Amino acid sequence: MERKWWHGLTAYQIYPKSFLDTNGDGIGDLRGIISKLDYLQELGVGLVWLSPVYASPLADQGYDISDYYRIDPRFGTMDDMDELLREAKRRDIAIVMDLVVNHCSDEHKWFREACRNPEGKYGRFFYIRKHQRGEPMPCNWRSYFGGSVWSELPGHDDYIYLHLFHRKQPDLNWENPEVRREIYSMINWWLDKGLAGFRIDAIINIKKALPFRDYPADREDGLSSVDNMLFEARGVLDFLNEMADETFRKYDAFTVGEVFNEKPEELPLFIGDKGCFSTMFDFGETVLNQGSEGWYAQKHVTPEQYKAACFESQRKTRDTGFLCNIIENHDEPRGVSRYLPEGTCAGAYGVAAKKLLGGVNFMLRGLPFLYQGQEIGMENTHCASIEEVDDISARDQYRVALDAGLSPDEAMESVNRFSRDNARTPFQWDASANAGFSAGTPWLRVNPNYREINLDAQRGDPDSVWNFYRALIALRKNPAFREAVVYGQTTPYLPELANVMAYFRRSDAQTLLVVGNCQDTAQKIPLPGTVKQVLLNNLRECVMEHGTLSVRPWQFVILEMDA
Ligand code: GLC
Ligand code: CA
Repeated sequence: MERKWWHGLTAYQIYPKSFLDTNGDGIGDLRGIISKLDYLQELGVGLVWLSPVYASPLADQGYDISDYYRIDPRFGTMDDMDELLREAKRRDIAIVMDLVVNHCSDEHKWFREACRNPEGKYGRFFYIRKHQRGEPMPCNWRSYFGGSVWSELPGHDDYIYLHLFHRKQPDLNWENPEVRREIYSMINWWLDKGLAGFRIDAIINIKKALPFRDYPADREDGLSSVDNMLFEARGVLDFLNEMADETFRKYDAFTVGEVFNEKPEELPLFIGDKGCFSTMFDFGETVLNQGSEGWYAQKHVTPEQYKAACFESQRKTRDTGFLCNIIENHDEPRGVSRYLPEGTCAGAYGVAAKKLLGGVNFMLRGLPFLYQGQEIGMENTHCASIEEVDDISARDQYRVALDAGLSPDEAMESVNRFSRDNARTPFQWDASANAGFSAGTPWLRVNPNYREINLDAQRGDPDSVWNFYRALIALRKNPAFREAVVYGQTTPYLPELANVMAYFRRSDAQTLLVVGNCQDTAQKIPLPGTVKQVLLNNLRECVMEHGTLSVRPWQFVILEMDA
């Protein structure tokens, strides 16, 4: 595998709206990010992905872009963006933006033009079809945010347009070379500015299986999940390679794809040496227990499931490339609330367990990608009623649960477990009003636990989650361990030992053993050799006697073994 400039970094996702508000309007902004670059440097972050800050009506929080060449005034100005790029560079932090090109906003000028003249040039930028009210739709696909993917074209009762996501996110027609050219020039415009690359949104969706047709309905609504279409669609890699040739490859840009539903044989084509992306996210754990019914039917993930999913991802990428390892992002609940057994965060082992989850994930081969607040162990929030929920996906899932016969309380229970708002509550900087996020009224309610869980409190505490993450990042950066930590192969150790997640990371010269005891009881684990030193430990002591490691509940250690 070819070595790349970004392999040894630790990456960090910022959700700008919820990071830091500097002008009191309740919305995080670019100036807030600039003011925290020193913080990111102190943490040890080398690459930052910004969720969208482009001009947008924010119908899907910026994933609905109305102008790719402008910064939304709520986030700041282009001067702020240029300053951010400059200041980040000075600190050796690469900045990556979100590339949202499966769709744009219905307020983008292309779509406005298309509405004016559906048969004209811009009509062909989208999927627009003639349609009489009452006729069946061209296909029965269900939008990711609920309902049909087809809506009436504004201003026309005899035309409809396609949107796989929200009705305010019309899909761009990638089959049209003019659309692709527009997108490539926009990408190059940003790369010329000094951007290091992109996180690429919903990219599998750009290829539709055409002509449109129905798939078997999978819920009472008579609609069919888009997944069924994606399974059949062929040719997405042709688009992606063309895009890479026209843009990223010329700049050695870093790209991370949001890729779901890829086919196993395609992995090298995505992230191999000649792949169309640098890397993509590992969603192997994210999709655990997902069914076609909806959130309400989704069971809590067990440590055994989590371990198996991680090991499977490691196995399949072993000779191919790097995935990005995550426990959460802006679309998912907080990892500590999701992957630790229920009640763990609030229990006696909460802090240890949070560190353990961070550690077992961070030490996997690949690029560790933290999400803002993960480094202080931020948890899910709680909403009493659906009115308090902002996330359009959660609102849809509430409906889905009610339609399936759940009571409003039960429906709220599932919303609270999976709502995207969980990750979007403001960053908890300190114990002052609004967690130090804003002097105004935050756009989304701060998690009330900020008085206990906040950066300020953790900075000075050597045993905090934050200091543990710093130690993990420092270990990754340490040249003495780089070969093993960054490039070493992953081999599961005693995978059959229930609720223990252990694995080796081996380079030619070194063997590290990572051990996490994911349960409330102590365990004795046979050691596979002589231990040279304990590199990291989430508890004070580490008991090793007669070839046995005795771990306490939720203990996590990294051992350097005699090679
Ligand atoms: C991606 C984004 C998500 C957004 C969707 C539509 O999944 O991460 O936030 O809603 O694409 O753009
Ligand atoms: Ca602001």
